[in-house]
Amino acid sequence: MHEFGWGSTADEVLAGKDLSGRTVFITGANSGLGQETARAMASRGAEVIMAGRDQGKLDESVAAIKADHPKAQLETITVDLTSLENIRAATSRARQRFQKIDILINNAGVMATPFLHTHDGFEMQIGTNHFGHFALTGELFPLIERGALKRIVNLSSRGHHFAPVDFDDPFFEHRPYDPWIAYGHSKTANVLFSVGIEARYAVLGIHAYAVHPGGIQTNLGRHMTEEMRAALMARVTSRDTGFQWKTIPQGSATSCWAATAEELEGRGGVYCEDCHVAEVDDESPTHGVRSYAVNSSYADRLWAMSEELTGVRYPS
Ligand SMILES: NC(=O)c1ccc[n+]([C@@H]2O[C@H](COP(=O)([O-])OP(=O)(O)OC[C@H]3O[C@@H](n4cnc5c(N)ncnc54)[C@H](OP(=O)(O)O)[C@@H]3O)[C@@H](O)[C@H]2O)c1
Repeated sequence: MHEFGWGSTADEVLAGKDLSGRTVFITGANSGLGQETARAMASRGAEVIMAGRDQGKLDESVAAIKADHPKAQLETITVDLTSLENIRAATSRARQRFQKIDILINNAGVMATPFLHTHDGFEMQIGTNHFGHFALTGELFPLIERGALKRIVNLSSRGHHFAPVDFDDPFFEHRPYDPWIAYGHSKTANVLFSVGIEARYAVLGIHAYAVHPGGIQTNLGRHMTEEMRAALMARVTSRDTGFQWKTIPQGSATSCWAATAEELEGRGGVYCEDCHVAEVDDESPTHGVRSYAVNSSYADRLWAMSEELTGVRYPS
């Protein structure tokens, strides 16, 4: 039996934990799951560095959290994951401002965008969701190495079931663009990145976890047309899957669990959902991680491609 499950909330998962003295860096912290994760971690005494691309939105989120938790220790930093130059500048500022990062939560994301490109010419979804976070994490590595907890949480999604990473055409240059395939393979990349970190840095005590938070109504759906929304709902509710939305506090629970659970000590490179480590499953529409998302050869291939495309070199 798992202690926590589908309906657990971030506060329940963190209850009784003392995070004082811990520094948590969260991307996309001005909205949805990121904001709730920041609130819950700060309420347990953590110093939370809230990263977002818009200072005004970050200030609003800080004010919302402080309204409930006046003593919350919150810092903000702007970073736009669609620009390698911006990421380099932001992380350089972070290395000057902060001593260490105990927990990095790569939470920011976009879903089902139209066919757009980042400043560096990457397709927008894999460019933001994976390559942006790959570059950010690499540039923050010296801070993570100095942290005591050394955990990295990468927000993936059950949407990774939609597609493996297409290594031959990551940016849809040679096939018609499909917003769901693009989201799906970006979220597979988030799992493979976690596997890649584990393979390289478990020896340093650094562990990475991919997380599917559940289905939660946030700003993530902003790019969907009514038609896309209806088609998605038909898909997730078909075959009697028993689909139910989670609340935002429930949706933030698995990130908080992966970031702090004692039972994960010394173990990473896994995909978590509903506050437990999921099984590899190539059939289920409702559970599990696809084998192509935890395949170590694919993880190595993605790592090499990511270093080449971002120019960010991790410590060897
Ligand atoms: N909600 C769900 O049902 C669900 C399901 C599975 C997985 N997830 C994953 O959970 C994570 C959080 O999503 P959410 O539901 O909380 O969505 P959300 O409310 O839309 O939050 C996404 C966050 O990412 C930020 N972001 C987007 N593009 C960015 C960029 N270029 N640079 C920096 N920040 C950027 C957004 O900033 P702005 O406010 O400035 O746009 C926002 O803070 C995502 O990785 C998503 O894929 C969510």
